Amino acid sequence: MSDRDPAADELQTSRLSLRRPTEADIDAIFTIHHDPATCLHNPSDALTRRDEAEELYRRWNEQWQRHGYGYWVVRRHDRDQQLGFCGIKPMELQSQKVLNLFYRFATSAWGQGYAGEAATAVTAWASRHVPELPLIARVRPANTASQRVAIRAGLTRAEHLDDTGYDGYDWIYAAKLTN
Ligand SMILES: CC(C)(COP(=O)(O)OP(=O)(O)OC[C@H]1O[C@@H](n2cnc3c(N)ncnc32)[C@H](O)[C@@H]1OP(=O)(O)O)[C@@H](O)C(=O)NCCC(=O)NCCS
Repeated sequence: MSDRDPAADELQTSRLSLRRPTEADIDAIFTIHHDPATCLHNPSDALTRRDEAEELYRRWNEQWQRHGYGYWVVRRHDRDQQLGFCGIKPMELQSQKVLNLFYRFATSAWGQGYAGEAATAVTAWASRHVPELPLIARVRPANTASQRVAIRAGLTRAEHLDDTGYDGYDWIYAAKLTN
């Protein structure tokens, strides 16, 4: 798969559009990752300067070019404002290739079911288009909201894969059983 495949560029749910990021999303990438509340459990993801958001966008776009999928920008159908981001990234977990499920939303968008709705759509897309990679989510033990989103998307706890991540010990949720 490559960025020439248009199938992934836009996903739709009943309320949401998920679109491949463009440079026009850099301000939203910065605003959302600059809010201490959105990176409370994952401080290594926090951004302090706008040029860091430009660099993050560049990495997200490179992944889209290399794999044909990545992180999507989430909006309501009826509004232009970016609610947040949700997507998948190939990585290694305990020497096994996996797809990591990511979600981060603006605090103003929390509590309305958006993350669960977006993560469910991304999980379905991944199982159809990247079935060879087990889908996992790495969640800090105190991040109850993130755990609920993973469960809402159909993942279940996979304690045997728990591991130390960038910000400390992570609980692993998985869409498929892995060895
Ligand atoms: C995690 C996050 C994406 C959830 O977004 P959201 O849009 O508020 O989530 P939803 O409204 O879709 O809720 C999904 C589930 O989580 C639950 N939930 C949401 N916020 C919660 C909270 N603060 N405490 C407990 N449960 C919570 C909801 O009740 C719902 O549960 P249900 O499926 O049993 O009904 C959002 O809090 C966020 O962006 N946090 C910062 C970034 C982050 O931590 N990302 C995860 C990194 S691993």
